[in-house]
Amino acid sequence: MEDRNTAMIVLLLLCVTAEMQVAGLSLDVCARCHPKATCDDKSDRSGKVCNCKYGFVGNGISHCRDKDECQIGASKICGLHSDCHNTQGSYFCTCLSGFIPSNNMDMFTPNDGTHCQDIDECTVTGLCGEGGQCRNLVGNFECSCILGYEVQNGAEPFHPHRDKASCKVVDCGRPEAAEDTVLLSVSGTTYGSAAMFVCKEGFVWRRGNNRSVCEDDGLWRGGNMSCEVVDCGRPEAAEDTVLLSVSGTTYGSAAMFVCKEGFVWRRGNNRSVCEDDGLWRGGNMSCEVVDCGRPEAAEDTVLLSVSGTTYGSAAMFVCKEGFVWRRGNNRSVCEDDGLWRGGNMSCEDIDECTVTGLCGEGGAVQESGGKL
Ligand SMILES: *[C@@H]1O[C@H](CO)[C@@H](O)[C@H](O)[C@H]1NC(C)=O
Ligand SMILES: *[C@@H]1O[C@H](CO)[C@@H](O)[C@H](O)[C@H]1NC(C)=O
Ligand SMILES: *[C@@H]1O[C@H](CO)[C@@H](O)[C@H](O)[C@H]1NC(C)=O
Ligand SMILES: *[C@@H]1O[C@H](CO)[C@@H](O)[C@H](O)[C@H]1NC(C)=O
Ligand SMILES: *[C@@H]1O[C@H](CO)[C@@H](O)[C@H](O)[C@H]1NC(C)=O
Ligand SMILES: *[C@@H]1O[C@H](CO)[C@@H](O)[C@H](O)[C@H]1NC(C)=O
Repeated sequence: MEDRNTAMIVLLLLCVTAEMQVAGLSLDVCARCHPKATCDDKSDRSGKVCNCKYGFVGNGISHCRDKDECQIGASKICGLHSDCHNTQGSYFCTCLSGFIPSNNMDMFTPNDGTHCQDIDECTVTGLCGEGGQCRNLVGNFECSCILGYEVQNGAEPFHPHRDKASCKVVDCGRPEAAEDTVLLSVSGTTYGSAAMFVCKEGFVWRRGNNRSVCEDDGLWRGGNMSCEVVDCGRPEAAEDTVLLSVSGTTYGSAAMFVCKEGFVWRRGNNRSVCEDDGLWRGGNMSCEVVDCGRPEAAEDTVLLSVSGTTYGSAAMFVCKEGFVWRRGNNRSVCEDDGLWRGGNMSCEDIDECTVTGLCGEGGAVQESGGKL
């Protein structure tokens, strides 16, 4: 402070002396310089001249106005994508939104090579929201939706700060089962979810795929399974049985069996049902041959021979000794009701008296005589 005051006093004295000198000759040039001017030697060294300081323009004496460097255009002075800010005697540059000075400062002057460069907004994760994909643009960025997501409340591409648009996951809704199929399981309803189908009860796979996937167009695709009703074919009768009736050959049909002729029910079920595995199930009836047991001889008869005791066997009877056939059948057959049937022979006692001459001639005479 002391020094400066002293210097000013010295300067003032010098000026006063100079003016006193000029007063005699001409006005001292330097004394007339504008405060924003410097007093320089003329280029031809013929005297002094007032020049406005750097950043000011004017005649150096009555005026030195600030020079607006920005006037020629921000891009010319600060480079592309910039704003130019004029100050008293100087200026500085800033970058437009979306750009940053290459020196990473808020402002710059371009004389050190600093320029505005694009900011890659996409380095910030999540900028476009869930399912959004960021694309860097010069001075900006835009969003679109990744596969499996679709834009809502707007169109693509969108800007999350400017638009209401956002991405949402594609939802296929509940999968629908095709005819004759049922949904077995589904992992979800959104993109990439899978649904499995099975044939409904009584139906079997015929062709196609049993798995659908929720695709990016919002549709379940892939599953094209078709099923056909189970057909058990014609039911087969077990040994010793015969098919009595059948309602059809497809799932749910029923077949009834009976024992074949000469056979009787022993155990098991006489009804089969066509089940979803394509097999007739339930009928497990077993039959056994009819057994009539030992044939019994009727009164006055004896069993002569018998071929067996089961269905179809035959038994022959003869009259017992002292008896003769009177009427009926000498043969019985074992029938399917378990009874010996057919033999109904009856015999009668031999009447010795009917034999002629058994008692001699007199007897006959007596008899005839009696009639007389
Ligand atoms: C079912 O779809 C597959 C592909 O997913 C295809 O190869 C096949 O031919 C389709 N079958 C039928 C019966 O449509
Ligand atoms: C779906 O089909 C595949 C063969 O294409 C099979 O291996 C799988 O068992 C089936 N899944 C169901 C649940 O039927
Ligand atoms: C026949 O099947 C029935 C069930 O349908 C079962 O209870 C029964 O034990 C079976 N009988 C024979 C002789 O296999
Ligand atoms: C089948 O068996 C049931 C008893 O199990 C019986 O009531 C029915 O009469 C039988 N039907 C025929 C055709 O034999
Ligand atoms: C014996 O049975 C036969 C048929 O087998 C029948 O025609 C006949 O009338 C029967 N005779 C007597 C006496 O019952
Ligand atoms: C049984 O009767 C028939 C006639 O009906 C006869 O021809 C046959 O000789 C008889 N058989 C016996 C063993 O008596």
